Amino acid sequence: MKNVRNMTHLGLLLMSLLMMSQALASPGTDASVEFRAALAAAPDARRGDQIFATCAACHGVDGSGLPDGSVPVIGSQHYSVLLRQLVDYRHAERWDIRMEHVSQLKVMQTPQDMADVAALIASLQPMGRTVHGSGEFLMGGAKVYFERCQACHGATGQGDADRGIARLAGQHPEYLLRQFIDVVEARRPRLSKTHAPLMRELQRAELEGIADYLSRTRRSRGDIAP
Ligand code: HEC
Ligand code: HEC
Repeated sequence: MKNVRNMTHLGLLLMSLLMMSQALASPGTDASVEFRAALAAAPDARRGDQIFATCAACHGVDGSGLPDGSVPVIGSQHYSVLLRQLVDYRHAERWDIRMEHVSQLKVMQTPQDMADVAALIASLQPMGRTVHGSGEFLMGGAKVYFERCQACHGATGQGDADRGIARLAGQHPEYLLRQFIDVVEARRPRLSKTHAPLMRELQRAELEGIADYLSRTRRSRGDIAP
């Protein structure tokens, strides 16, 4: 009997240890703590400039990315949106082998590092070329965009810094289309929950049309990081 009780105690102890370690290892918990710490940091864009040298190798010195959509435009993205993505890659809540690797590099380890580089990126005005879609689905895509996306992302896709809504204007269409499909296939778990049901209802042609429309809007640098 005693043995059984001891076993139960041991079992309970093991279970609570396991739960504790799971709580500690839970990427969700760590990620939100780190995101809040990064938001609270006072960014230093000069330090950000040094860190950005690593990023520019892929994203370009003005954050234009690549016209084929393999690397997104990041220049002039809203500060808090940038921080969210950087934290998510670090905590395996957004998956891309290149960005996961970058997020483990020494140059970008602390919430302060992320704040510094995000402030620099938010201040860039991308000047690179953006290819447009074929035009075939443009009218339909723009119509759907105005009906379903405009209320949050704005008529020309500039997003909203205060509400943490991503700037989509002037983004490479192939990159956008990949994100839309990732959302539908549940590969962007951190993206606000409105997106999956919205995008599941749309036809491929409509998604291509939205990406085409956004690729033709001019990416303006409205706001600078705090
Ligand atoms: C080896 C190439 C490479 C390097 C170096 C790199 N990136 Fe990226 N980055 C990418 C790719 C590719 C993506 C798109 C990944 C995806 O589809 O999720 C991306 C995506 C991003 C995004 C998300 C953009 C969005 O619209 O959601 C941010 C933010 C970002 N990178 C910031 C950085 C920062 C900051 C650095 C430097 C510290 C950096 N990147 C270095 C290739 C790179
Ligand atoms: C209720 C408001 C809302 C609506 C409606 C909405 N979005 Fe968003 N969207 C957001 C917010 C907020 C973010 C960024 C924050 C996040 O990561 O969740 C975002 C992020 C995105 C991103 C990620 C950008 C990147 O590079 O990582 C894409 C793509 C996107 N939205 C496309 C769309 C499209 C297309 C529609 C219409 C079919 C749409 N959204 C409708 C609020 C909205």
